[in-house]
Amino acid sequence: MSLFKTSIVLVSLLFVCIEAHLRDKAKQKYIGTALAAHALSDPEYNQMAGAEFNSASPENEMKWAALETSRGHYNFGDADKLVAYAQQHDMKMRGHTFLWHRRIPAYAEALHGNKAELEKVVKEHITKVATHFKGKIYAWDVVNEVLNEDGSGNKLRKGLFLDTLGPSYVEEAFRTAHAADPNAKLYINDYGIEGKNKKSDALYELVKEWKAKGVPIHGVGVQAHFREGGVASTLHENLKRFADLGLDVAITELNIRYKLPGSADKKAKQAQDYEKAFSACKTIPRCVGVTVWGFTDKYSNIFDKGYGEQELWDQHYKPKSAVNAVEKELI
Ligand code: G3I
Repeated sequence: MSLFKTSIVLVSLLFVCIEAHLRDKAKQKYIGTALAAHALSDPEYNQMAGAEFNSASPENEMKWAALETSRGHYNFGDADKLVAYAQQHDMKMRGHTFLWHRRIPAYAEALHGNKAELEKVVKEHITKVATHFKGKIYAWDVVNEVLNEDGSGNKLRKGLFLDTLGPSYVEEAFRTAHAADPNAKLYINDYGIEGKNKKSDALYELVKEWKAKGVPIHGVGVQAHFREGGVASTLHENLKRFADLGLDVAITELNIRYKLPGSADKKAKQAQDYEKAFSACKTIPRCVGVTVWGFTDKYSNIFDKGYGEQELWDQHYKPKSAVNAVEKELI
């Protein structure tokens, strides 16, 4: 190679090395992304996830039906792959999730009404999984989306767990997880609790009660799947009241979708929305970090018809203006 060409290569490499990445600014509070094991075989995805983020959450790989397809038969392959990736890239790893009303394997679903057996399989599942990942998971979403919508009754969602085990199943799940991995931070995670409303008020009461009883709960995760303009105006105030109870708080699944087709104006508004969400966390010492639920539109599941382009980078890995906006809010 000529001297000229060699210099060009060296200069380009230097640019790559000194290019700023989000995680470089996220020293006090992590910036995380959901990771999908199948996408790691895409070289660009693989390179960017570890370069930009210092925390990871498994998008689907640690859900009950993904890990334990039939009773006692575990498949940790994809989840282990994500944990190894996080370790190689010096990222925290969040665990998601032991109990959720979706992705329950058929054998557990069939135990509706059978308290003794369901109690047993729930305990077995949490113990096995928490033990398998012991020491490798920074924080677990022990229960996901277990609240009902309006805070009525015992405040919990109707379904397999509540119907069969009664409301104490949530406390039991926390105690079981804590016994298996005493150093992991244990979270309750939900959507619709980002701002102050009936659902988050109900959670506030529950969490206070659990803390008073000595339930090992350490954090509240707000998912934050927002539509354009939909970042809750009371997000900061709401996070703060949970932090004031002596809990960690985190934004766990942030993305902001807009109505398609996109435009420069929509992208600019999306950037403001992302900035709002990150800034809500910034000034609360117990807000430990923000996780985006995927970082590229290339691998982004949208369940809201007509809406899309919700991640920070587009489907060709081109950064949107939201990336700069977020960067300003990182500390
Ligand atoms: O695995 C199959 C694959 O074999 C098939 O080719 C493909 C075709 O569509 O489907 C694949 O499964 C999909 C899976 O995502 C992997 O992409 C499921 O149909 C689909 O239902 C599943 O959706 C996931 C959803 O949770 C349900 O588990 C999303 O990726 C994931 O982003 C979403 O994450 C949830 C959080 O866990 C909780 N909070 C809400 C959040 C967003 O909905």
